[in-house]
Amino acid sequence: MSSPNRQSAVTVLGLGPMGRSLAGAFLDAGLRTTVWNRTPGRDRELVARGAVSAGSAEEAVAASSVTVVCVVNYDAVDAVLRREAVADALKGRTVINLTADTPDRARDAGAWAAEHGIRYLDGAIMTPTTTIGTPAAVFLHSGPEDLYRAHLPVLEALGGSHTHLGEEIGRAAAYDIALLDIFWTAMAGYAHALAVARAEGITARELAPFAKGIGEILPPIFEETAEEADSGTYSGDGNPITSAVSSMAHIVHTSEAHGIDAGVMRAAEGLARRAIGLGHGSDGFTRIAELLGRR
Ligand SMILES: NC(=O)c1ccc[n+]([C@@H]2O[C@H](COP(=O)([O-])OP(=O)(O)OC[C@H]3O[C@@H](n4cnc5c(N)ncnc54)[C@H](OP(=O)(O)O)[C@@H]3O)[C@@H](O)[C@H]2O)c1
Repeated sequence: MSSPNRQSAVTVLGLGPMGRSLAGAFLDAGLRTTVWNRTPGRDRELVARGAVSAGSAEEAVAASSVTVVCVVNYDAVDAVLRREAVADALKGRTVINLTADTPDRARDAGAWAAEHGIRYLDGAIMTPTTTIGTPAAVFLHSGPEDLYRAHLPVLEALGGSHTHLGEEIGRAAAYDIALLDIFWTAMAGYAHALAVARAEGITARELAPFAKGIGEILPPIFEETAEEADSGTYSGDGNPITSAVSSMAHIVHTSEAHGIDAGVMRAAEGLARRAIGLGHGSDGFTRIAELLGRR
């Protein structure tokens, strides 16, 4: 890992839990770090560690050649950046937007930056605040490759792995959405499982070691089915949709017998039954990706 020049300066806009972690990692790496947040006072601990507190967003971005912005969503990014004074101060400088939102919003932000002579990279953070500054952090980036390479030493001060996914500015957000789709659907399943288990007199603590085992089944499935999904062949060897749908029906039945909403599982079961109706009963479960969207 190349280290940033100790004279390097970086600005962080947004001091929620993630923005504070990013600014803290820059400070730990020895970068001169200027911070600003909409609500004052969130920078006290960072200032005690050596950060410079800016009185306004325009003052903050003027302090460094690169600004990292990490706020709740792109409406908030727009509220901070799309003011004349801030856009003027950013002209000729670089914005690295690590806020999460949709690919379309990332493309819109990229177009706005280009119109205003601002160099722009879009990124996504795939791991929690506790990983920032450690090898466990995962960052995805998209935008001009030369700009990414030029700022990699600063990004590497945040620890973890950094992957440039391509020049198309929406690509990091697109990965983010797909990956968060896995995460939140799994979390919805876990929360539902806790309710069903509780109704059957099983505590979350009792379920936990076995829930962990279920989680561990998934990574090899992602590897094994990737090629099939890309080529459109869905081998159901060992676990065809006809078998999956029977297991899903048991979950719906047990949930509803306890008065627990089974809407999410009913939706998944419905898709599986549609695949069977179309003659794909002997295929694997990932066949339903074909029903959901065009190749
Ligand atoms: N926390 C995590 O573990 C994690 C992990 C991966 C990715 N992320 C992403 O990182 C981003 C920041 O997350 P976070 O954890 O720091 O907390 P957050 O609650 O998502 O964002 C809080 C930040 O957004 C600012 N904000 C909200 N509305 C604003 C507006 N209209 N104008 C200006 N600033 C506004 C807040 O300022 P005020 O203090 O003034 O309200 C604060 O600085 C999000 O996009 C999130 O999805 C977070």
